[in-house]
Amino acid sequence: KATPRVRQLTTSLIQHLHDYARENELTVDEWMAGLELMNEAGRMSDNKRNEGQLLCDIFGLESLVDEITYKLASSATDEPTATAILGPFWRADAPHKAMGESIVTGLPAGTGDGDRTWVHGTVTDFRTGKPVEGAVLDVWHTAPNGLYEQQDPEQPEMNLRGRFTTGKDGSYGFYCLRPVPYPIPYDGPAGKVLQALDRHPYRPAHIHFILTAPGYKPIVTQIFDRNSKYIEDDAVFAVKDSLIVDFKPFQGDPKADFELPYDFKMASY
Ligand code: DHB
Ligand code: FE
Repeated sequence: KATPRVRQLTTSLIQHLHDYARENELTVDEWMAGLELMNEAGRMSDNKRNEGQLLCDIFGLESLVDEITYKLASSATDEPTATAILGPFWRADAPHKAMGESIVTGLPAGTGDGDRTWVHGTVTDFRTGKPVEGAVLDVWHTAPNGLYEQQDPEQPEMNLRGRFTTGKDGSYGFYCLRPVPYPIPYDGPAGKVLQALDRHPYRPAHIHFILTAPGYKPIVTQIFDRNSKYIEDDAVFAVKDSLIVDFKPFQGDPKADFELPYDFKMASY
């Protein structure tokens, strides 16, 4: 629809693309190579792969847009939990689980049992400090082989995904595995670009969250293991200081080897 905003974004995009072609004296052959890359990314953009998004992400575009959006939304004093990019591997309809349940329903062979982790904390209103009741935490992360469930025929459907709803006290807790660093898929156009730039394809270990609650702004984010390789060199530039967390050795719970305390702060509309 031709709103003023759509007109501005489109006109500006065309201007920048023309400038790019002129500044670099782009030839027809080079243009065709770029076009082929975009077409290939389009062909590979199903819900298992999302290659188009992957390509934008290694250019840092999704992280830049996330940063701009988050800055516009934050106040000068206190802040809600920082956001981070969605990435290509979220799935709608992750199973609803009772608080305290595990999201581990299977393990691919050959990469060990993973470090069982108890993730827990509170969801509060960042202005009032009061608990947020009815907040839904939608969680997902990779198996110890570095693959998300939909990338990996060895894992049960919806493995390592779940949705948890807070009660009156705003607390949450669930069992998962300590995530591992892993390469983003690089057998497609995004991989070609990374190779052309001599860049590695790795992301530091992270757990994804989407928080939603009635009356509150949604938070799309990730938390990152401080001790993970690539924490300073994420292939898609998503790490923020306030999202770096510490996994602590955990005694006294037969179901977990580590605990991860993390509190979320949401902003009401
Ligand atoms: C990207 C994000 C992820 O969280 C991930 O696991 C892989 C790739 C991305 O932004 O491209
Ligand atoms: Fe991820």
